[in-house]
Amino acid sequence: MPDKNDFEVTPWDVEGTVDYQRLIDKFGTERLDNTLKQRIFNVSGDDNLYLRRDFVFSHRDLDNILDSFEDGGEFYLYTGRAPSGKMHIGHIVSFYLTKWFQDAFNVNVYIQIPDDEKYWAKDTLFLSDIDTYAEQNIKQIAAVGFDPDKTFIFRNREYIGNMYDAAIKVSNEVNYSVAQSVFGFNSATNIGMSFYPALQMLPTFFEENQCLIPAAIDQDPYWRIQRDIAHKFDHDKTAAIHNKFIPALTGPEGKMSSSNPASAIMLEDDKETISNKVHSEAYSGGGDTLEEHREHGADLSVDVSYQWLHNLFLEDDNELRRIADEYSSGEMLTSEIKNILVDQLWSFLKAHQARKENADELVQQLMYNGSLANEMWNTDIELDT
Ligand code: TYM
Repeated sequence: MPDKNDFEVTPWDVEGTVDYQRLIDKFGTERLDNTLKQRIFNVSGDDNLYLRRDFVFSHRDLDNILDSFEDGGEFYLYTGRAPSGKMHIGHIVSFYLTKWFQDAFNVNVYIQIPDDEKYWAKDTLFLSDIDTYAEQNIKQIAAVGFDPDKTFIFRNREYIGNMYDAAIKVSNEVNYSVAQSVFGFNSATNIGMSFYPALQMLPTFFEENQCLIPAAIDQDPYWRIQRDIAHKFDHDKTAAIHNKFIPALTGPEGKMSSSNPASAIMLEDDKETISNKVHSEAYSGGGDTLEEHREHGADLSVDVSYQWLHNLFLEDDNELRRIADEYSSGEMLTSEIKNILVDQLWSFLKAHQARKENADELVQQLMYNGSLANEMWNTDIELDT
């Protein structure tokens, strides 16, 4: 367990309060600075809140992707979700970011559903549980609104026949000392876990074009290994763009978790549930008493409602500035900013839930019938060695 000033980020767990600058240094990624952000907006002709507000904060080789795109080159997107439970809003933001890139650059998206990973990683799930969650999760992902002809969602246990030859080759290039040092595997780790990284890396080789992966930074260790072995297959190193974690409602430590429902806003929550959770659980930077709050105001840096509005939900910069001024000076109360957050969360989730109503047909297209899906089922992933 890390001490008070320490934190740990692995693909399976986040502990402590993450210092994102230190994480950039530790993982050896690059900060997404204003110049690069402006370039993305210029090249795509579009704006994005998550980028603008630094929720997306780091990258690998995004500049290469833009250089080549400007010269007429192509790239593709890849992201994923391991179905180990119902999804909360933290799980869906990378998908909305991916959709934004798809719309802005008109490129293919591959979405991996590793319906094997969490069987190996946790001791508590049956494959039948994973199958139920996979079906539910895929509908949530379909509701994001990806282009049905340029998107392929696949479950590992279904698509493995098309990828197995390539998985053999990828797994052959990663030795155990690398897996141990990158993932912390030890003598108690089951051997399924040792093979799994080959499967998560594999979609970075699905096209000859360079791959760009939008995901939270916890997944970066896989990309680090891919970047070390890509040359063996005469392939580009994958590029990546990293978002921060949405913190738990209950405070800045760790990340939101579906196993602690009080800490999370689930994608299926209705307005009343959202309001109850936000009002009873959202960690406040406001004063303990009304007098104290009026005198000193709120600490915005730890206030979950303000952080969520800033990072994810409130588009209007002027309105955000007004809230920041009034709340930090004590004029606005915690209950008032929480009401604003509830309204913003609900407008996001209401639209998402409405799109999910029609997800069944869309799922068929994204997994099996759309142009890209259809093509992928007729393709064996090939890798030169
Ligand atoms: P999973 O299912 O844990 O998470 C799905 C995606 O959500 C991101 N994420 C978060 N983002 C913001 N706030 C949070 N609190 C939060 N919690 C999770 C994750 O980084 C991920 O982008 N091994 C992967 C599944 C996977 C994958 C991929 C992910 C397979 N291939 C390619 C990204 C890209 C996993 O367990 O993700």
